[in-house]
Amino acid sequence: MTTSRNIESVAAAFESQYGYAPAGIWSAPGRVNLIGEHTDYNLGFVLPFAINRRTYAAISSREDSLVRVSSSFSPVQHEVELGQIAKNSDNDWAAYPFGVAWAIQKLSQTTGKGFDAYFESDVPVGSGLSSSAAIECSTALALNELWNTGLSRAELARCGQLAENEIVGAPTGIMDQSASLLGERDHAVFLDCKSLEAQSIELGFDAAGLELLIIDTRVAHRLNDGGYATRRAACELGASQMGVASLREVSVDQLDKAKEIMDDVAFRRVKHIVTENERVLETVENLRAEGPTAIGALLNASHVSMRDDFEISIDELDTAVDVAIRHGAVGARMTGGGFGGAAIALAPIAKVSEITLAVLAEFELLGYGKPNIFTVTADQGARRDR
Ligand code: GLA
Repeated sequence: MTTSRNIESVAAAFESQYGYAPAGIWSAPGRVNLIGEHTDYNLGFVLPFAINRRTYAAISSREDSLVRVSSSFSPVQHEVELGQIAKNSDNDWAAYPFGVAWAIQKLSQTTGKGFDAYFESDVPVGSGLSSSAAIECSTALALNELWNTGLSRAELARCGQLAENEIVGAPTGIMDQSASLLGERDHAVFLDCKSLEAQSIELGFDAAGLELLIIDTRVAHRLNDGGYATRRAACELGASQMGVASLREVSVDQLDKAKEIMDDVAFRRVKHIVTENERVLETVENLRAEGPTAIGALLNASHVSMRDDFEISIDELDTAVDVAIRHGAVGARMTGGGFGGAAIALAPIAKVSEITLAVLAEFELLGYGKPNIFTVTADQGARRDR
């Protein structure tokens, strides 16, 4: 669908749901992480980009304090009083917009008005492409404007993270919301999760004759499911054993020491984070110096580290990565939180269909579910569309 049709469609859906026209339309993209996995909550480095799949939100503020949200992806309309937003499993997907409304008020120390919102999205759910951040960031940009709260995009990203942590109940970092709010066309967001300093890094895929392929295994992952939180806890324990506030403070040279004082599993968790931070920095250097054809080995090494040391990959993701590399990808890795979701393969345009067919064939041979394979480009972050 083209953007203008998305805008018409969500505006019409809002009107039929609530019986009046929305005050405005805002949209925010999903994201793919090029490299830097599970490093965000360790205050390290990440390199995601906003993708050309977006969530469109039609929103109006109300005179009272009622919040009503509905969407094309669920038949249920959720309602809450603005002052009563709290963690509640009945909220389902509505916890994202509710959580953002709660977080903006908390961070800006203001009280907002109620609002009506309707969402439509073409970001696939559960595939590690941050469909939730797209909902959060479209809501955040809209409420910041409607409520006149004047928060910066970086602060809105923090609101999205707070919503996830406090209202949804997923102990995630700040990467996804930062990518969705700060992304630019053909650029990745190089974020230092300690200083929160962000730089736009040109990707140049097109000029290099490359495309980024998403191989969504369709094995759904959930970030409030235990695996993610267990990894985060392991990292925090590792940092405390090393006597530092976060694993960001541990250098590759100190891994020998880590190996001496930790058991094997704890050491491998720490090793992934420490080496992944290095890989992000090298990826940025290579992109700047030589362009995207020079980052393949780093992507591959990142996958091996997640598979063997951090242990968040699954057979379907390993297969997707192996087949893509064997059939000519420059590099490939799983992306996102892990335990399901998608892999990325950076591939010469001429190899995209060969890789696609090979992955489909191998999945069928192994009896895996059919993956959803498509390409994405780096797109503009959250914006007001109307
Ligand atoms: C999810 C989280 C992010 C990040 C990634 C793993 O996407 O929301 O904060 O931790 O997993 O890199």
